[in-house]
Amino acid sequence: MNHPAKPRKLPTQAIGARIFHTLNIISLFLMLTSGLQIYNANPVFGGRAGLHIPPIFTLGAWLAGGRHWHFAAIWLFSLNLLGYGIYILITRRWRHRFVGSNDIKALQKTQNPQRLIYAWHRIIYTSIIPILLLAILTGIGMYKPAQFPWIVDMFGDWQALRFVHFASVPLVIIFVIIHWRLGQKAGGDKLTESMFW
Ligand code: HEM
Repeated sequence: MNHPAKPRKLPTQAIGARIFHTLNIISLFLMLTSGLQIYNANPVFGGRAGLHIPPIFTLGAWLAGGRHWHFAAIWLFSLNLLGYGIYILITRRWRHRFVGSNDIKALQKTQNPQRLIYAWHRIIYTSIIPILLLAILTGIGMYKPAQFPWIVDMFGDWQALRFVHFASVPLVIIFVIIHWRLGQKAGGDKLTESMFW
């Protein structure tokens, strides 16, 4: 006798977390691709004859188009990050999301693979926050250098500021890959899917 297939039970995520997460993915995609378009106009690595990014990874078709996308997406990206910060403070989720001394102890002592994955995941969640804040700080320095010259000075000169801002590209990509892999290891496709629907 054929048994009907059991409906798959997905872990449920709070609607707020899913909304912030989805907006974050969209805004980071726009920031990365439009940023790479801006980069191509005058690469920080080697100048106009330097290392260019293939057009498939860029957004905006040319410098002005890339800047329009980048400057528009700044609002989505920054306000979403701010909203998320307020959300995790109010709902007290921050207590479970970020690395604590328990995680460090677990890394040193536990043999439980699941516990190790959680510890690493919280380290990764924690490390992306200063990376994103640094992208905002250096971005503001490049956006309004006349109003915030101290940001440029903090990094030494304009070229160094551009370099540090650019570093957010590989760092965000590395974060996404590790975050994805650890999510898969912790709960497979079901957990990943539960963040979207
Ligand atoms: C994680 C998020 C972000 C990524 C991945 C990113 C990426 C990039 C990249 C690759 C460039 C080209 C750098 C160069 O070659 O000089 C760039 C330029 C720029 N970004 Fe971002 N960015 C991010 C967030 C921000 C934010 C939050 C702001 C503003 C608050 C901002 C403002 C700017 C400005 C003003 C420029 C220079 C535009 C120009 O020279 O015409 N970025 N970004």
